[in-house]
Amino acid sequence: MSFDLVFFGGTGDLTWRKLMPALFQAFRHGKLPPGGRILAVARDERSDDDYRAWLKAHFQNVESPKRPTDEEFARFAELIFYRRMDLSQPEHYAHLKAWLDERAADTVVLYLATSPHLFPVICEQLGAAGLNAPHIRVVLEKPLGHDLKSAQEINRVVRSVFNENQAFRIDHYLGKPSVQNLSALRFGNALFEPLWRRESIANIQITLAESIGVGTRGDFYDRTGALRDMIQNHALQLLTMIAMEPPATNDADAIRDEKLKVLRSLKPFTPESVARDVVRGQYRAGSVDGQAVPGYLDELKVPAGSHCETFVALRTEVQNWRWAGVPFYLRTGKRLAARDAQIVVNFRPVPHPIFPGVSQPNKLVIKLQPEDGLELHLLAAKGTGQQEALAPVFLDLDFDKAFPTERVGAYERLLLDAIAGRLNLFVRSDEQEQAWRWVEPILDAWARDGTGPRPYAAGSWGPAAASALVARDNFAWAEEQ
Ligand code: BG6
Repeated sequence: MSFDLVFFGGTGDLTWRKLMPALFQAFRHGKLPPGGRILAVARDERSDDDYRAWLKAHFQNVESPKRPTDEEFARFAELIFYRRMDLSQPEHYAHLKAWLDERAADTVVLYLATSPHLFPVICEQLGAAGLNAPHIRVVLEKPLGHDLKSAQEINRVVRSVFNENQAFRIDHYLGKPSVQNLSALRFGNALFEPLWRRESIANIQITLAESIGVGTRGDFYDRTGALRDMIQNHALQLLTMIAMEPPATNDADAIRDEKLKVLRSLKPFTPESVARDVVRGQYRAGSVDGQAVPGYLDELKVPAGSHCETFVALRTEVQNWRWAGVPFYLRTGKRLAARDAQIVVNFRPVPHPIFPGVSQPNKLVIKLQPEDGLELHLLAAKGTGQQEALAPVFLDLDFDKAFPTERVGAYERLLLDAIAGRLNLFVRSDEQEQAWRWVEPILDAWARDGTGPRPYAAGSWGPAAASALVARDNFAWAEEQ
């Protein structure tokens, strides 16, 4: 199957940091279908060779095991081409079409790695140039809109040019290996399904903690904030994967129908419940990994007095028969104590404890970062003595050890899926809009509330109010248990 992959925003950060390295890994592992061409387009004039040299220089920033050797880069570079394009000029799209028509590949993937405000104009121009035939797919990078209205507007334009099954909306968390494993765990094994419900589960916690700050992205971040940057998309997508009903088949729409039902079942926020169930924070100076770091307001390009949140913790419920009354806690933040992304499923305690000493309910930890893996926490008999003392132990599944040669990174996986036309791991427009609909009352309440986010020290786990949110239900975050 031949393919052409076009990166709009071909000289942007995302292209050199994530997309090209991911494609190179697929190429190195022999996973990229043969007969592919990769075209980067951007505003400035360069030859193919200039672009290849520029890309090679940028590959020096990639962590060393993933960096190509000179010989590998030379072979990879044979697939790469560059064209100048002014995205507002119809004739430039005609040139692109001519380039693509020249050899009529089986599949064309148009990856919009540009600023999202350009998506409507690019889609309209693609449609006008006839670059929307059924073998053409468009990949849209987040952020997909700023609120429900802007997301709907992008979707309206995309839909006026492409069918829904040609639109691949990326949420790179869905490409992470542990998220694949979550599906496998739930729907490839019979073990957990009978327990996967309110009768056995006390609460579920999704933590997406980062130790990095906003770096040089202060201006982008300040317009976005943690709720839009991480909760509306990544955290909610993980929640749907945890809470969804088993789909009838492994087809994209069967899966996405079930995910949409979860989003529609989320307890809607009111101004009162935002005040009670949502904590927003902003980091102050502190220390991360023994290094002193500045507060958010002292970061580059952050406006003075900004109320932008760098931390969110919230409590919600999935209002259906399976989950009624089970709290789902979501939490994300920058400059937290560790880079640690995980989902913790806390089971209920035994109904009638007969062993003296420790009592600790079981929990299943799905680890996304820094390593992916699965831990099942149990109590076991400690020794051979008379005392029937129990101690916590855990079964630890390390996927890197289990499948040492098979590991595929998130962007690599998603790019290969887009080329192959597999939509399972991409977000449908109705899911995305429903997620916006759910977060909007929080944005509205914050806009009306002049008090701003709560401060927390860089290197901590966020404001104390986030612990209180969980403690109110007599639970605790994983690191406090
Ligand atoms: C991006 C956010 O979507 O995800 C970033 O815009 C964040 O702010 C990043 O740092 C986190 O992704 P990962 O894969 O490093 O956890």
